[in-house]
Amino acid sequence: MAKTTFNCSECGGTSAKWLGQCPHCRAWNSLIETVAEPAGSGKNRFGARPGLTPASPLMTLANIEASDFERTPSGLDELDRVLGGGMVEGGVVLIGGDPGIGKSTLLLQALDALQRRGQKTLYVTGEESGAQVALRARRLGLEGSQVQVLAETELEKMLSTLQAERPHVAVIDSIQTVYSNQLTSAPGSVAQVRECAAHLTRVAKSEGVTIVLVGHVTKEGALAGPRVLEHMVDTVLYFEGDTHSSFRLVRAIKNRFGAVNEIGVFAMTEKGLKGVSNPSAIFLSQHAEPVPGSCVMVTLEGSRPLLVEIQALVDSGGPSPRRLSVGLDRDRLAMLLAVLHRHAGVACMDQDVFVNAVGGVRISEPAADLAVLLAITSSLRGRPLPKGFIAFGEVGLAGEVRPAPRGQERLKEAAKLGFSVAVVPKANAPKKPIEGLTVHAVERIEQVVEAVRGL
Ligand SMILES: Nc1ncnc2c1ncn2[C@@H]1O[C@H](COP(=O)(O)OP(=O)(O)O)[C@@H](O)[C@H]1O
Ligand SMILES: [Mg+2]
Repeated sequence: MAKTTFNCSECGGTSAKWLGQCPHCRAWNSLIETVAEPAGSGKNRFGARPGLTPASPLMTLANIEASDFERTPSGLDELDRVLGGGMVEGGVVLIGGDPGIGKSTLLLQALDALQRRGQKTLYVTGEESGAQVALRARRLGLEGSQVQVLAETELEKMLSTLQAERPHVAVIDSIQTVYSNQLTSAPGSVAQVRECAAHLTRVAKSEGVTIVLVGHVTKEGALAGPRVLEHMVDTVLYFEGDTHSSFRLVRAIKNRFGAVNEIGVFAMTEKGLKGVSNPSAIFLSQHAEPVPGSCVMVTLEGSRPLLVEIQALVDSGGPSPRRLSVGLDRDRLAMLLAVLHRHAGVACMDQDVFVNAVGGVRISEPAADLAVLLAITSSLRGRPLPKGFIAFGEVGLAGEVRPAPRGQERLKEAAKLGFSVAVVPKANAPKKPIEGLTVHAVERIEQVVEAVRGL
């Protein structure tokens, strides 16, 4: 076994054995195991003496041939969309999400589709046995699938299989189960996950294999342990959605080969995940009549507008009222409540405030502000917003309403789905009227509250 040392993630200091506290900077729990470089060889870590490395010839940018990446579409349109067109040779994709959300299902479907297009594929399973994977494949209707399956958790064995088989695309499900026999740390620890992912990334680049790493997400919403993985890989995709509803979003939060924040929308069915090509209305709940505390917004992350219902419940609270948000940023909620009080005179100080983005969607764009505030005031007053109402726009600390990017597209989508009244920032007001849609343009939060009162 190779010699290992422990490096401090805070100060970079080393220790020969594991200690609870770094002997150099006194940080707690910061020592992480790494494989030690051979010491005293006088060589740097690239295997050459410092200063004597044969330099690669220099080129000017203009002389480098800039060929676009060769992409292989998987044939699952929604997945290809988030990937920026398809799998890239030598690209490493990290795909994260809650347990049971559909990561294994999606990747098995993708591998099968790629295999049927003549790509050589490998599915490495560390969590389930080959029989379990086969059972899933049957359920998904992938009988006769030629995808190769390897049930293995040891990194070194995986690497030798990868080198021998040289598949086009390999899925490692999951990276947390992989361990390297070079390290003494337990599988799933930061040291193991980081080392194994780094190894696999190097193999992907050198052999031209596309590698997809599956990662679990902890309760706090971070990929378990290593955020370090996110900067190592080329593309990071996250699964979102409520496991109780059938819709799933796959969002690109980092992509070296395409646009970020692009989303793919799927529906979970008996036969696996099916792409939803026209998803704009799936996150609306169906109220027969408008109810208090509900406001629909148009969010536009990636290339497609999506209508999402924001719900709020304001109810008398105890001495320390609660502020809770699901799918929206909690700190932003506190800020919005302060703005609402200071600039529009609507006070919720002694009230519990709950807000929720329907359907398990996560909305990170500030354009949700206006809808959040309107849902809150509507719930506080017990008065519904008018039928067919939408709103979007960012709200600033000074009480100003700022425009959202690509406002026209958002309004057109809402009009297409039959919405008839909109409250939007002044700069987003359409130059030409949109048929069937009455637009109220506002500049300040006071005007928003006024405008809605008059509707
Ligand atoms: N027999 C079944 N019939 C229908 N759906 C199933 C069946 N078994 C599992 N599923 C669905 O597949 C999901 C499991 O997906 P999976 O790909 O294993 O998730 P992950 O790999 O993200 O943990 C379950 O949440 C469930 O919705
Ligand atoms: Mg799984």
